[in-house]
Amino acid sequence: QRPLRRLLSCPGTVAADLRREEQSSGSAETGSEDRTPKKRFSEVQNERREQAQRTVLIHCPDKINEKKFLKFLSQHGPINSHFFYESFGLYAAVEFCQKESVTSLQNITRTPSLGPEAAIPFKSRYLNLKLRNSLNQTSELSSIQCSNQSSPSSKKLYQLLCCAESVDDQLNTLLREFQLTEENTRLRYLTCSLIEDVAAAYFPDCAVRPFGSSVNSFGKLGCDLDMFLDLDEIGKFTAQKTSGNFLMEFQVKNVPSERVATQKILSVIGECLDQFGPGCVGVQRILNARCPLVRFSHQASGFQCDLTTNNRIALKSSELLYMYGALDSRVRALVFSVRCWARAHSLTSSIPGAWITNFSLTMMVIFFLQRRSPPILPTLDYLKTLAGAEDKCIIEGHNCTFVGDLNRIKPSRNTETLELLLKEFFEYFGNFAFNKNSINIRQGREQNKPESSPLHIQNPFETSLNVSKNVSQSQLQKFVDLARESAWILHQEGKDRPSPSSNQPWGLAALLLPSVANNMSLSKKKKKPASERIKNLLDSIKSSGAENSTATNGR
Ligand code: GTP
Ligand code: MG
Repeated sequence: QRPLRRLLSCPGTVAADLRREEQSSGSAETGSEDRTPKKRFSEVQNERREQAQRTVLIHCPDKINEKKFLKFLSQHGPINSHFFYESFGLYAAVEFCQKESVTSLQNITRTPSLGPEAAIPFKSRYLNLKLRNSLNQTSELSSIQCSNQSSPSSKKLYQLLCCAESVDDQLNTLLREFQLTEENTRLRYLTCSLIEDVAAAYFPDCAVRPFGSSVNSFGKLGCDLDMFLDLDEIGKFTAQKTSGNFLMEFQVKNVPSERVATQKILSVIGECLDQFGPGCVGVQRILNARCPLVRFSHQASGFQCDLTTNNRIALKSSELLYMYGALDSRVRALVFSVRCWARAHSLTSSIPGAWITNFSLTMMVIFFLQRRSPPILPTLDYLKTLAGAEDKCIIEGHNCTFVGDLNRIKPSRNTETLELLLKEFFEYFGNFAFNKNSINIRQGREQNKPESSPLHIQNPFETSLNVSKNVSQSQLQKFVDLARESAWILHQEGKDRPSPSSNQPWGLAALLLPSVANNMSLSKKKKKPASERIKNLLDSIKSSGAENSTATNGR
């Protein structure tokens, strides 16, 4: 149930607009609903991949008669679903019930003749619809209802947050507004599937799978699309077929290392996407990176894509985060808010550098939730003890086994509110002994740091690695200062919240305001003492009245 909003305190029209928009997005999930998925991560991935293979992407004229458009397409077979969206033009993603319908449609599709230019005759599932006799049809054309693919503006978010009922409601609102929609998720799988068709020209049984925030349940509208070119399916298939006394192997070219093999494969696929891939622009082959990749923009979907291979552990990390996100409805709400807070204060950036990544922030939230009493999330070691035979997974010598069936994990008995958790998150990391301790979600407790990086977060599967090795001391200090400041703001507010009519930003809205960061950078010289002072004040408040702290445990 959605809590009542403080709509009366909002300016009339805005409030009404917001309420209408909220109602229209009725199918969106919120952190407060029981949304425990029964399906395994691999099941979801396989179902969505199969769905994407039955789907075509069509660039349409700006105005179109939807009924006639669907009637035209259904000559090739029944349509299961469709949606329209805008991205430098109008596009439709149309899912047929059967794969054969796609082939049938492709058979009546022609390669365009472009006048002086020449077309590369690559027949993909990305098509272009033109109107015949457009003059005769003008009267029947109408504007189309488009599905939104981008996150709300800061202004709208700010209004929504200020109109919320409570801090918990604010966190759930932020999640609802920023999380990937059903259509956006479909578009991500469809884009992978279109790239798979290109890669299949070389490796017919390959799969291109999305990973990272597109599938780990922490993705926000507009996030990049991480793709994994999976060539192992081919190996598995042939392995099953061998029997008897003989073992048949393919004759292959050998190269000095896995890394060189990866670079060669990505180099060729990158070249192919660049030369032949419809809608793939700005293709960069970044082959000397620690994890070689091909980066490009997929124009039709608007996604910035990173294609990697030989990166199976990252896919497993995505599955682990998906499990954690699904175990308790508070996890995603908290992660979204912390990620948004970090972005608002430039703690994270889209450019690689010495800053904390979203992946590291998510690990920090998971760790914090493992440390609550009673814990909200189980440790990775515990998830390993629940694993069945089908969950066994060793990748490059690393044991990546953990339970895949969510139903085997008991829900937490912890009933803390999101408001309390957010405040305590900031306090916890505002006081964390980063200089000597490492964050370890496998064991759910701090470990001595094995090396001297300012921030040490153990990679859950490659346990000798630090996922936050890139973070500099000054970036970590900025994180700590902002965490203390934010804990302080929430603490003060708990006692003295601005009245709804004052139009003052409060709760999460106050934390996301750039003024917090600006104020801090203005007093740069005083930063350290200010941060220390806040820490000491918080400490003294806590120790002087432990019994009072229950008063701030949300309402
Ligand atoms: P966004 O910022 O929304 O894109 O989040 P993301 O989780 O997709 O992060 P990103 O695109 O940077 O990386 C994609 C995936 O690669 C992550 O989800 C992780 O599984 C993995 N990954 C990213 N950074 C690291 C790292 O430093 N170490 C390891 N082991 N894996 C990483
Ligand atoms: Mg990503």
